[in-house]
Amino acid sequence: MVSFAISNELRARLERGGPILALTGAGVSAESGLATFRGPGGMWEGRDPMELATPQAFAADPETVWRFYDWRRKQAAEAAPNPAHVAFAALEQGRDSFRLVTQNVDGLHERAGNRDVLRLHGSLWRLRCLGDCEEHDNLELDLGPLPPRCACGALLRPAVVWFGEPLDPAVLHRAEQFAEEADLVIVAGTSALVYPAAALPEIARLAGAYVVEVNPETTPLSERADVHIAGSAGAVLPRLVEVAGIA
Ligand code: OAD
Repeated sequence: MVSFAISNELRARLERGGPILALTGAGVSAESGLATFRGPGGMWEGRDPMELATPQAFAADPETVWRFYDWRRKQAAEAAPNPAHVAFAALEQGRDSFRLVTQNVDGLHERAGNRDVLRLHGSLWRLRCLGDCEEHDNLELDLGPLPPRCACGALLRPAVVWFGEPLDPAVLHRAEQFAEEADLVIVAGTSALVYPAAALPEIARLAGAYVVEVNPETTPLSERADVHIAGSAGAVLPRLVEVAGIA
């Protein structure tokens, strides 16, 4: 039994059918067994993101970078969506005006049933050729010798956003539009430290949205959000779906 208070305002906004924006981060996949990035046991503990998640690292040592991403693809493939992912899929199916924006690259939102996921940081399951070929889906768990190469001979890289790289401007623009239109924003499982994703709740709040943060820990967003629910996404999200009147 999960016990946490749902404010009258949150209840009203869940019930009234206005546009809902969800912004998710690695914490939403934690209950699926995937490590978050920061904090004890996080992926960046004992690993230097500058050596694994930058274009410079890839240029210097594509094999090491690919070993990291190959391992993450395998971990993600073995993981299953948890009740938080299922709840976000129910919100999309139950509401016309639900938008999901994620920083996650693991594909679990899609596997839970969300059809329209705005992926700010790309996907582990798409590959980009360093030549001129089109970016494409690739679900193979055995990519052959690392680093993999495109049929044209050029190196392939995971189509994720690395540190120091800009987000796709069209994707960011859509996310900002959703933020401006939202009546309610649910921010779940993110440390709210990485920009521009971390700016979206503030954009929404200034445009009149009610912002609820779901995270067992506090973050820089906690003080600015209208409500911080200190619980795990897998416990809290199903309850929010219930209050929204979605079976
Ligand atoms: P972080 O690892 O920075 O933060 C994960 C957050 O999830 C923390 O605030 C945890 O307290 C919280 N958390 C853990 N378990 C949870 C649970 N069961 N329910 C709810 N919250 C939980 O991950 P992100 O904020 O996603 O970027 O990180 C943002 C970006 O930084 C990532 O997309 C990645 C990373 O470096 C790149 O690689 C470019």
